[in-house]
Amino acid sequence: MKKYHGAYIKNAREIGCLREADRMVANILDAVGDMLKPGVKTRQINELALDMCNDYHVQPAFLGYNGYPFAICTSVNEEVVHGFPSERVVENGDIVSVDMGVVFDGFVGDAARTFPVGEVSAEARTLMRVTEESLYVGIEQAVSGNDVYAIGAAVQAYVEERGLGVVRRFVGHGVGAHMHEKPEVPNFKTGVRGLTLQNGMVIAIEPMVTQGSYEVDILDDGWTAVTRDRKWAAHFEHSVAITPNGPQILSISDRGLNRHTISA
Ligand code: MF3
Ligand code: CO
Repeated sequence: MKKYHGAYIKNAREIGCLREADRMVANILDAVGDMLKPGVKTRQINELALDMCNDYHVQPAFLGYNGYPFAICTSVNEEVVHGFPSERVVENGDIVSVDMGVVFDGFVGDAARTFPVGEVSAEARTLMRVTEESLYVGIEQAVSGNDVYAIGAAVQAYVEERGLGVVRRFVGHGVGAHMHEKPEVPNFKTGVRGLTLQNGMVIAIEPMVTQGSYEVDILDDGWTAVTRDRKWAAHFEHSVAITPNGPQILSISDRGLNRHTISA
């Protein structure tokens, strides 16, 4: 595969495989959204994801990645990312960030959404909406010729203008035959110049937004990231191809582009 400063340039066939992987991921996230009601255990989300991977004849991308022990990440309320599915029962008013990846024909699909459980507070709805909106603000910057760091600058400005915080500890990434490829895609402004985006690059843009401080702690399980102040966080992620026609979102389900918390 052609490379540009360490980032792989994908051809049409390879982008097609990524689109198919991401379509499956988005379909799984749709199904998760349908099942996520008060009383559901986060373990059941993992089981649903595994069942759908079986039906699709694909491998879950996260299971075993750096030793991650599940097919999916389920992060509840103050959990930011990489939460473990468990016997935890979600309750009315919770929010659950669900991150999923599959490997189809050697290519990785990767996307995430935060779902409300039952009726959630106005503050939680705002958190989810601004996070999802900030993802689209970032995607607008994903055009050939732009500095990759323009994405994070736009995301951060959008989020902070609305009084929320952007996590620094985790970033988006190039995605292709490997889940994490170059370039890194921060959701915040960096002082330096980044890679110039080129047509054929595919990146996962994934803002993690907090109600308070952007600092996170990692729990004793070695994975679960929680906000240091234990205020709530949300996470939305799309895999996006850089094309001559502008950014193309690959993680679109059979129901169409899923904008849960925002309109058009
Ligand atoms: N979307 C996350 C990422 O891009 C998922 C990784 S979870 C892991 O890093 F367990 F696989 F690491
Ligand atoms: Co990702």
